[in-house]
Amino acid sequence: MPWAGPATLTEPTTLPLPKIKSPVRSAAPSTRPSSRPLPAALAAGTAIVPVSATLAANEELAARRRRGEPVLALAFGEAGLPVHPRLAAELAATAGFGAYGPVAGSQRLRAAAAGYWSRRGLQTDPDAVVAGPGSKALLFGVLLGLGTDIAVPKPSWASYAAQATLTGVLPHFVRSVPGEGGICDAAALDAACRASRAAGRPIGAVLVTMPDNPTGRLASPAAVRDLCAAAERNDLIIISDEIYRDLVYDPATPFLSPAAVAPHRTVVTTALSKNLAAGGWRIGVARMPDGAAGPALRRRLLGIASEIWSAPAGPVQQAAAVAFDEPADLTDRITQSRSLHAAVCQSAARVCAAAGLSVARPQAALYLYPDFEPWRAHLHGKYGVQTGADLVELLLNRYGTGTLPGSAFGESASALRLRLATGLLYGDTDDQREQALAAPDPLQLPWINDAMTRFGDVLADMAA
Ligand SMILES: Cc1ncc(COP(=O)(O)O)c(C=O)c1O
Repeated sequence: MPWAGPATLTEPTTLPLPKIKSPVRSAAPSTRPSSRPLPAALAAGTAIVPVSATLAANEELAARRRRGEPVLALAFGEAGLPVHPRLAAELAATAGFGAYGPVAGSQRLRAAAAGYWSRRGLQTDPDAVVAGPGSKALLFGVLLGLGTDIAVPKPSWASYAAQATLTGVLPHFVRSVPGEGGICDAAALDAACRASRAAGRPIGAVLVTMPDNPTGRLASPAAVRDLCAAAERNDLIIISDEIYRDLVYDPATPFLSPAAVAPHRTVVTTALSKNLAAGGWRIGVARMPDGAAGPALRRRLLGIASEIWSAPAGPVQQAAAVAFDEPADLTDRITQSRSLHAAVCQSAARVCAAAGLSVARPQAALYLYPDFEPWRAHLHGKYGVQTGADLVELLLNRYGTGTLPGSAFGESASALRLRLATGLLYGDTDDQREQALAAPDPLQLPWINDAMTRFGDVLADMAA
């Protein structure tokens, strides 16, 4: 539904105030007969993680949209753009590929992914590539295959810790390098490794997100070298999630993959979900470490893959191979989407900064991570907000604005940092999204302009 316009925000009491209590409800089945007791296998005490906060928030906002309520969708990290017609045509043309195919993915796809990494300075053998149904599944397989506790940056993408929990290991949140996102501070990592060894349960791996979700920041080469040195000292596998690598706004920003510094202990993952907005296609690739660790990890990952997903979907692999070949029309598309993400995400950050929030300038992807701490006393006095979750609930219930609390990314409950994602502001139809991609200044498009104006008005109203 299009925005009613900023005027609706000058009188907050005229906003629709939905009655919902919880901002992110999971889609629990409502039809369970209440007369029957739960089967024992589903009774309390079973280890489980809730529906991913980001997917749950998306479902909640979609339900509001269906009810005709205005929403400002800043919760879900979707790249909100149409699939490029060349990829769609490739998928359609290969729809007849009904065979399971090799567990590691087709030779065609693995060779294309190897070429993708080799062009980025990481010489890669196709046999070092494992494809899977999204990098999320591959990361899960890697964690399960390693079977050791892991260190993750604080904050970091919600699924790492949840996946670690699901695989039965402990995630250790280690503070990230000040001013940088997605990377653990090396000294803090050393300390966490010492403590975990002393406790008899050593950390065996560390995760890095380059560039980062939730902060939108890219770790510097110096921080990457420090991290790799700490990984050497503590004998850690490094898992480098580089799904946003091609979405760094400024091409002059140096990008150093840990795989270039510590090739014998680094596994890299990426996918088409973000740079080519094909998250729903569920395809990703992992690059095994060099040396002996590569085949050892590959064997474990393939064993897991063979018992869970068998092989990635055949037609999607074929289309993905074309994408990893990087023909000019697809790289142009990525260039366009990078500029669009930069324009809208940085504009949202400027709106936050102008309102008096502290926020680091996003350098990549579609995320910003403002801190409402400067408003703590006001938010508490006026709205009773004490935690990040309270703040998310306020934004959702009073302003129809979906966000995620820092606690979903490993921060303490009291932190007032929120993860905002701007990828769903590009339009309600594919036509609008194509216009956004092509626009020299997407901020001038009425629907994007309205969204930004509304966001500013929401913040102004909250601060008043
Ligand atoms: C840091 C990060 N890694 C991985 C993923 C998931 O990627 P995929 O769609 O390839 O499973 C996401 C999606 O939000 C992400 O933010």
